[in-house]
Amino acid sequence: MKVAGSIALVTGANRGLGARLVQQLLAAGAAKVYATSRGGADVADPRVVPLTLDVTDEASVQAAVAAAPDVTLLVNNAGVVRPGSGLTGNLDDFEHELATNYLGTLRVTRAFVPVLAQHAPAAIVNVLTLLALAPVRSTAGYSASKAAAHSMTQSLRGQLRSRGITVVGVYPGSIDTDMIADVNTYKASPELVAERIVTALAAGETMVFPDDASAAAGAIYLQDPLKLEQMLTGY
Ligand SMILES: NC(=O)c1ccc[n+]([C@@H]2O[C@H](COP(=O)([O-])OP(=O)(O)OC[C@H]3O[C@@H](n4cnc5c(N)ncnc54)[C@H](OP(=O)(O)O)[C@@H]3O)[C@@H](O)[C@H]2O)c1
Repeated sequence: MKVAGSIALVTGANRGLGARLVQQLLAAGAAKVYATSRGGADVADPRVVPLTLDVTDEASVQAAVAAAPDVTLLVNNAGVVRPGSGLTGNLDDFEHELATNYLGTLRVTRAFVPVLAQHAPAAIVNVLTLLALAPVRSTAGYSASKAAAHSMTQSLRGQLRSRGITVVGVYPGSIDTDMIADVNTYKASPELVAERIVTALAAGETMVFPDDASAAAGAIYLQDPLKLEQMLTGY
């Protein structure tokens, strides 16, 4: 996917990785970026168009499609996480994670496919997580919601290829954002992760491990998926 000259739309662009993706896309030559968020935002850069978009709200998504009819690169970045194991996690939290991370991503994708196909070659980038490939116990609902989004990413990759739309899955490790502010572990900088995602997209990669930890874990996964499962679930 040629990033230079593209017209991108990023969900969850008001903070965290999404805000850095907006900056990196511009640095790579994107002509325009729709920076979408639930609350809207003030933006000074003339290449950035702020838009309101809640991925769980069909009317909000349809309004965004109407306001952004020229998108060539959709970045599904918005996401939520709640703590909870498979046996004791709150099912309302699991539903919320599915509604946002899986169905929200799918809802936005479905809505923008006609626009992307009209302006092909185009691309969809789904920000997933390493945990989509192998879960951790403490966020079982989150892991499952991202695994569902991973499966849908694979399914749509085949389906959209003939319409000129490349579908990319991104599988980061821990990133230093609000999402895991209270987790004490090594965290990659969101600037670095965003830069690597944009570089990988421009290089035509469709399965992206955008930080050193995920690159190492991804190499294990590609060789021996069960080994990564054993490492992350700890058995
Ligand atoms: N941080 C990590 O360690 C890590 C690792 C792997 C993957 N990821 C993934 O990276 C992506 C970005 O996460 P982050 O680390 O930047 O987290 P973050 O700092 O918590 O930001 C999450 C973003 O998602 C938005 N969002 C949540 N629900 C939404 C909804 N219904 N509609 C629209 N936007 C919504 C939030 O908007 P509000 O400000 O309105 O809440 C915020 O902009 C997520 O998909 C996450 O799962 C993160």
